[in-house]
Amino acid sequence: MSTDPFIRFRDVSKEFPRPDGSGTFLAVDRLSFEIARGEIVAVLGKTGCGKSTMFNLLAGLIEPTSGMVDVTGHDPFREFAYFRGKIGIVFQNDRLMPWRSALDNVLLGLQILDADKMEAEATARGWLTRLGLAGHESDYPHALSGGMRQRVSIARAFAVEPEILLCDEPFSSLDEMTARDLRSEFTRLVKQNGKTAVFITHHINEALEIGDRVMVFHRPARIAYEARMDQTSGEAERRNVQDRILEVLSLERSVDAPQV
Ligand SMILES: Nc1ncnc2c1ncn2[C@@H]1O[C@H](COP(=O)(O)OP(=O)(O)OP(=O)(O)O)[C@@H](O)[C@H]1O
Ligand SMILES: [Mg+2]
Repeated sequence: MSTDPFIRFRDVSKEFPRPDGSGTFLAVDRLSFEIARGEIVAVLGKTGCGKSTMFNLLAGLIEPTSGMVDVTGHDPFREFAYFRGKIGIVFQNDRLMPWRSALDNVLLGLQILDADKMEAEATARGWLTRLGLAGHESDYPHALSGGMRQRVSIARAFAVEPEILLCDEPFSSLDEMTARDLRSEFTRLVKQNGKTAVFITHHINEALEIGDRVMVFHRPARIAYEARMDQTSGEAERRNVQDRILEVLSLERSVDAPQV
C-alpha cells in the first residue's frame, strides 16, 4: 500500500471579495493537513471559521487563492471531471429533488455515471434497504421525515461507490436520537466499505464519535488543535480531549466580535 497521503492541503489560502467591494476577506489561512486512506477525519469549528470553504476546496467547487489541494494525486478544481463518481457528498440539508421519488433520487448519481439501467436500479434499491428504507422507494421527499430524507442522501452518496465521502454537517438539523443512529450507521458504512471521509460538524460529541481524528479550526480556517482518537481510547482520555477542545474553542474570539 502506498504511504502517500490520500488527501493533502499544502499552505492553502482562500480569499473572497468583500461584498461592499472594500478589498478581500481571508476565509482560509495557509491551511495544511494530510489525510490517509481509510481515515475518518472530523472537522470542528465555530460558525464562520471556514469549514464549508475548506469543504468546497476539497470537493473542487472553488479554487484556492494560493497553495495546493491534492486528492489522490489530482487537483479537484482543475480536474473536476476526473472526480465524477469518486467523491460522494452529503450536505447539511438533504438536497433531494422534490419531484423525484426516493429511488429516483438515489439513482441520480448512477445515471450521471451512465450506469447500466437495471444494475443501477438494483444498486439504488440495495442502498435504500441498507439504510432502513425498504418499502419507501416510491415515496417523494415531502412524505419522508427529515431523518429518512437524510438517509436517502446518504444512500445517494454511497450508491456511486465513491472512494471519498465528504459530509458538511449532515445531521445537525435532526433530533439527537436520530442523529446518533445515523452517525453510527455512517461510520459503520465508511469502515465496512473502506472509504475515506471528511466530516464537518460543530458538535464536539459528534466529532469525537465519528472521527478517527478530530481537527479543530480557528478563524480564518487553520488548525488550532488536533487529536487522534482510537477505539481503545478510554472515557478519561475522551474527556481530556473534550476539555481541550472546549478550551481551544473558547480561546477564539466570537464571530460577532469586532474585527481588528
Ligand atoms: N462565496 C463567498 N463570498 C464571500 N465570502 C464568503 C463566501 N463563502 C464564504 N464566505 C465567508 O467566509 C467565511 C467562512 O465561511 P464558511 O461558510 O466556510 O464558514 P463555516 O465554518 O462553514 O460556518 P458554519 O458553521 O456557519 O457553516 C465567512 O465569513 C463567510 O461569510
Ligand atoms: Mg458551513
